[in-house]
Amino acid sequence: MGQEIDLLSALPKTKRNITAREDAKDPEVVRESKKYGELYFDGPRDYGYGGYRYDGRWVPVAHDIIAHFGLKAGDRVLDVGCAKGFLVKDLLEALPGLEVFGLDISEYALMRCPPEIVGRLHLGSADHLPFPDGSFDCVISLDTVHNLPRPRAIAALREIQRLSGGRAFVRVDSYRTPEQKAIFESWVLTAEFHDYPAGWVELFDEAGYTGDYYWTIIE
Ligand SMILES: C[S@@+](CC[C@H](N)C(=O)[O-])C[C@H]1O[C@@H](n2cnc3c(N)ncnc32)[C@H](O)[C@@H]1O
Repeated sequence: MGQEIDLLSALPKTKRNITAREDAKDPEVVRESKKYGELYFDGPRDYGYGGYRYDGRWVPVAHDIIAHFGLKAGDRVLDVGCAKGFLVKDLLEALPGLEVFGLDISEYALMRCPPEIVGRLHLGSADHLPFPDGSFDCVISLDTVHNLPRPRAIAALREIQRLSGGRAFVRVDSYRTPEQKAIFESWVLTAEFHDYPAGWVELFDEAGYTGDYYWTIIE
């Protein structure tokens, strides 16, 4: 079984105004966010990122991922739910010779990737990864699997396992206390499935997922 480990500890924490989001979260906003288009990435904050531009925030995370998995030049890495591909770019630059690719459901995001990674990103869904068994040395998926309803989240984890053999890392929405759960529910826009860590670990078992994992918790 994989280990619970925070590979994103080097990422700056996002400051959120929880009350503001609760007021703004109407069904129309949720519907628009789930299209993963311009509003979600580059529209007002109520719809998602509030503008997602390259700022180098993933550089230290890229180094931590490379160190954790002992990746070397020539290894193949896939980022499932890569959005605009910023981590793909930073992994490539952190270890020259690493073969890094991404996949996302958002054509809008993929069309806005940095020029260095054009041709490395695929349009698709996490629960149908169009690659042969064992075709990657490492698969990561950050804040993406929870955007699928439970049966499809299981399918996505099976896919990640199939490609990586369990040399993988996923981070998903979770909470450790009822208070954190209430805060999460006042914020959630796109997540279709979320649970306490124990519920996620059960789901990982059901999927046969043996990679590493951690939680996105709003505090
Ligand atoms: C919160 S963002 C995370 C993006 C990036 N991994 C990061 O951490 O910045 C969620 C991403 O999941 C993508 N997404 C949503 N549903 C998906 C699916 N079924 N398959 C692949 N990607 C999906 C969205 O387009 C978006 O890029």
